[in-house]
Amino acid sequence: MSTPPNLPSLQALIDDLAVQGWSQQPAFLPQSLTAELAQECRSRAAAGELAPAAIGRAAGQAIVEGIRGDRILWIEGGQSAACEQFLDAMEALRQALNRQLFLGLEELECHFAFYAPGAYYLRHFDRFRDDDLRTITVVFYLNPDWLPEQGGALRLYLDESRSLDVLPEAGTLACFVSAEFAHEVLPASRDRLSLTGWFRRRSDNVL
Ligand code: OGA
Ligand code: MN
Repeated sequence: MSTPPNLPSLQALIDDLAVQGWSQQPAFLPQSLTAELAQECRSRAAAGELAPAAIGRAAGQAIVEGIRGDRILWIEGGQSAACEQFLDAMEALRQALNRQLFLGLEELECHFAFYAPGAYYLRHFDRFRDDDLRTITVVFYLNPDWLPEQGGALRLYLDESRSLDVLPEAGTLACFVSAEFAHEVLPASRDRLSLTGWFRRRSDNVL
């Protein structure tokens, strides 16, 4: 059975994106699914399936813990019922974004991310110099009962003078136009789990 995001949240997210280029939606997916995804992320991390994340792309990839300290696992359909449901929900989001905002999004690339206490990701953009197909960033958080004093916010730089901190609370979906917003992950005092993904648009260069 597929689990659609709740429709008011989906519409609020699309309206926010159209107006301001970013959105945060609490309780985007059912709590039971969020808990299953958190459990899967934890057990895969414990089994050693998550690897240090790299910076850049292809031959230019490097692992630089001073920039980015999370461990990740790319997810695919069929790897678990929970991931399958998450990907179904993201597919509903992709189709709604294409229908309403004409973004021409073609696919989602997505990974679990696990930040141990103290790990962070310095200020960056999500587009690579040699690949500008990443269009919309989505981050779905998996951490119940997150307190502001535990750190770990996603800090989104809205313009020269304003930034927004999104707490990685279980069920919250943060979403923004990948090319427009510099952002960083602040260090936390507890484990910080998420599913992070990028909707990629069609390449115009294939013909
Ligand atoms: C990323 C990223 C944000 C977050 O993985 O590129 O910026 O809140 N993640 O985890
Ligand atoms: Mn990022």
